[in-house]
Amino acid sequence: MSVTRLIIDTDPGVDDAIAILLALNSPELNVVAITAVAGNSPLSDTARNARRLVDLAGRADVVVAAGCAEPIGKTEYASGEVHGNDGLGDLEWDEPTTQLDPRHGVEVLRDLLLEAPTTIVAIGPLTNLAVLAQRYPEVIDHVEQLVVMGGASFEGNVTPAAEFNIWFDPEAAAIVFAQSWPITLMPLDLTHQAFLTDEDLATFRALGTEVGRRCADMLEPYATFHERWYNNRNVIMHDAMAVYELLRPDAIVKQGVVVHVETEGQHGRGATFIDRGFHYADSTVQVGVRVNNDEFRTLLHQRIANYN
Ligand code: BDR
Ligand code: CA
Repeated sequence: MSVTRLIIDTDPGVDDAIAILLALNSPELNVVAITAVAGNSPLSDTARNARRLVDLAGRADVVVAAGCAEPIGKTEYASGEVHGNDGLGDLEWDEPTTQLDPRHGVEVLRDLLLEAPTTIVAIGPLTNLAVLAQRYPEVIDHVEQLVVMGGASFEGNVTPAAEFNIWFDPEAAAIVFAQSWPITLMPLDLTHQAFLTDEDLATFRALGTEVGRRCADMLEPYATFHERWYNNRNVIMHDAMAVYELLRPDAIVKQGVVVHVETEGQHGRGATFIDRGFHYADSTVQVGVRVNNDEFRTLLHQRIANYN
């Protein structure tokens, strides 16, 4: 089995947490670092949450670094409603033992990319990656694959036009999509096909492990948010789709596209225009269109159950 060397760029985030726990217990992946970015919560929270998750997974070998605290563009955002005040559903946690790497997250990305070709999963706003591309264009060729959760073909989730990760920093997203690295994009119309129900939460809790209990506890308030927002408790697994793509590359149906990010506009800021013209079939940018939720849930259950 070939093992993918991986960096996760993230703003945890409850669904980020599930994606990270999935990645950290998957033998197909060698997660070398987690770089935090501001998004769902301020950077101080997302960086601490990344340390909590590495502790929980028992993966002291993973470098955790704090990246950019502010988006490149101007975005006003009051966190709390979706992922709780601390970004992980406001549970009790011990002070994490994993320490932050003293380097800035962008420097960690650069150093690790220069060390060896690496895949990146980006499941938060794209600020760190845009700064990386602008500051160190020489590492772009060292990115084997960039799998991004973000954007929407049809309808956003912050505004009618824009999905959160792109809306939070459209300038960064525009920079990232202008680079030559191969991108696989998981937009909302794909991620809404992947969700967990109360039954899944009960299964996690019944595992009787710390990881199982924490997954259920974090997902509970996230389900309540979904109920308020969408009128049902299906918990959408946005970010886990980006990791799933690396675990089962044939599971998500994809097509070649060109993506344009709207940075202007009275109502359209942060929109992604996904051009699916047939002549883009072999584009280096692919977009996920279809996934089988039962197959995804089965794999997620296995990997969460495999934690001691
Ligand atoms: C994205 O926004 C965040 O709230 C989630 O973690 C996910 O990355 C979905 O729009
Ligand atoms: Ca996220």
